[in-house]
Amino acid sequence: MERIYITSPLYYVNAEPHLGSAYTMVITDTLARYYRAHGWETFYLTGTDEHGDKIAQAAAEARMDPKAFTDQVSTTFRAAWDTCGFTYDHFIRTTDAYHIRYVQELLTKVHTTGDIYFDRYSGLYCFGCERFYTPKELRDGKCPDHLTEPKLIEEENYFFRMSKYQDRLLRHLEEHPDFIRPENFRNEVLAMLREPIGDLCISRPKSRLTWGIEIPFDQRYVTYVWFDALINYVSALKYKGEEAFQKFWSEAEHFIGKDILKPHGVFWPTMLMAAGLPLYKHLNVHGFWTVEGQKMSKSLGNVISPLAMKEKVGLDAFRYFLLRESVFGQDADFREESLTTRYNADLANNLGNLISRVLAMEEKYFDGVVQPLGQMWAKEDQELRDRFRQSEEELSGHMAQLQFHRALEAVWAAIDQANRYIVQTSPFVLIKDPAKRGRVGEILHHLLEALRMLSHMLAPFLPETSKEIKDLLNLSEGASDHQSPWGSFFMPDHKIKPPKALFPRIELPAELDDPQS
Ligand code: MSP
Repeated sequence: MERIYITSPLYYVNAEPHLGSAYTMVITDTLARYYRAHGWETFYLTGTDEHGDKIAQAAAEARMDPKAFTDQVSTTFRAAWDTCGFTYDHFIRTTDAYHIRYVQELLTKVHTTGDIYFDRYSGLYCFGCERFYTPKELRDGKCPDHLTEPKLIEEENYFFRMSKYQDRLLRHLEEHPDFIRPENFRNEVLAMLREPIGDLCISRPKSRLTWGIEIPFDQRYVTYVWFDALINYVSALKYKGEEAFQKFWSEAEHFIGKDILKPHGVFWPTMLMAAGLPLYKHLNVHGFWTVEGQKMSKSLGNVISPLAMKEKVGLDAFRYFLLRESVFGQDADFREESLTTRYNADLANNLGNLISRVLAMEEKYFDGVVQPLGQMWAKEDQELRDRFRQSEEELSGHMAQLQFHRALEAVWAAIDQANRYIVQTSPFVLIKDPAKRGRVGEILHHLLEALRMLSHMLAPFLPETSKEIKDLLNLSEGASDHQSPWGSFFMPDHKIKPPKALFPRIELPAELDDPQS
C-alpha cells in the first residue's frame, strides 16, 4: 500500500491563526484528503511550537505563566483548525512530555557521539529570530527579517557540529534534485551549502532564558528552540509507536513557508544525519501571502483571519481562493475584490448554477427520478464523459507536482464542458416535444454522472461542497461510487433531492460588477 506522511510547520503560539498559517493548513489538508481518497495510508501532523524567547516574551506581556499561556493559545489554534475542519491525524505540542523526552534522548545520543561540544562564543544575536547571525548574513548591519540591529552576545554554550555534515548534505541535494522543491528553493539551499555553514549554537543559558527543554547533560542550559521544534516530525511518529515510525518516516513530505527554509533545509537534515536517522523525502516550500499588496501585520490591521473568512464567504470559498489564486512556491496577494470576482464567476456561476440547473430539471421533468440510458450515446455525451476522464487524469498529474491551481483548472474545464453540454443538447427545449422525453432523461442522466464525478474530484479542495453534492444526489457518504464507470452507477429508480443554491452570488456595488460573469 502506498503511504504518505504530511507535515505542517508547528505554529508559534505568539499570534492567532492567520492567512499564512491557514494557507499551509489548506494545502496540507487538501493533500491529506486527496491521498486518503486514493487509498493511500496517510498520516497528517500539525501542532504548536511553544518554547523559546518569543513565547516567553508573549507570555510575559500577557502577564501569564508560560505554560498557562501556551495551554491557552495552543487550544485556540487547535479549536480554529477544528472549526476549519482540517483533518490532521495528530496535533503535537512541543511542551508534550513525550516530545520533551525524545528531544532529550536525541541530545544525549548526539552528545555521546561527540557531535555536540561546549565552547565560548561571541556573536551577533537577533532576539526576533532567536539565533546568531554572521556579519555577511546581515543587511546594512540589521537582521534581514526583523530590520533590527542584532546584539553582541558573549557566552558559553553547546554547539552542534553541523559543519561536519555539510558535504554529505550537499551531495544528497545533488543526487536528489527534488529533495527541496520548487527548484529555486533548492538552489537557495545549495548556495548556502557552497559557503561554510559553521556549527550551530543549540543551547541558551538559563540566566537569560528558562522557558525551554533542559539540556539533559547540563542543567544550567535549555535547548535552542529550533533544535527542539524540528524534532517534532520524528517524536510524533515515535509517540504513535515504532511501527508508525517505520511506516511513515521515509515518506515524510514537509510543508513550510519560505522564511523557514534554512532550519528545514540545513539544520534539520544535518541533525538527522548526526542522529543516525534517514532523511525526510521532500521539503516543499511555499511563498508568502501579502494582503492588498502589503505585508500582513497587526500594526497595519490587515491580518486575515480564517475564522472571519468562514463567516464571510464560507470555508470552501476561502480554500478555493487560496488554492486557485496562488502558484505553489510563489508569492501571492490576497484581495477581497479578487476573492469576490472568483467566487461569483467560478463558484456561483459555473459550479453553483450547473448543480442547481441539473437538479431543477431532473426535479421538474422527472420528479427527481433518474431515467435510464440507452445503448447509443450521442457525440456530445461521449465528449462530456471524455472531458471528465481527461480532467481526472490531469488532476492527478498536477497534484503530484503540487500544482493546485492547475488541478482546479482541470476540474473547471470539466465544469465548463458540462455547462456547454446543456447549451448544445438543450434539454429545456427538447422537453416541449413529448417524443423527445426519453432523450431528455438520458441527457440529465449524463449530467447527474457529471455531478457525481465532480463531487469526487472536488472533495479534497471543497470538502463541504462535495458532501452537499453527494447529499443532493442522494448518495451515501462513504460509498466509493466514483469508481463505477460512467453510465453504470445510477439505478433507474434512484431519486435525487430537490435543488439548492450552493453559492449565492455576492452582490457587488454596480461599478465593480463584472458584466462577463
Ligand atoms: N514555529 C516555526 C516553525 C517551526 S516548524 C518545526 C514558525 N512558526 S510561525 O507560526 O511563525 O509560522 C508558521 C508558518 O506560517 C510558516 O511556514 C510560515 O512560513 C507561514 N507563514 C507566516 N506568515 C505567512 C504569510 N504571510 N504567507 C504565507 N505563509 C506565512 O515559523
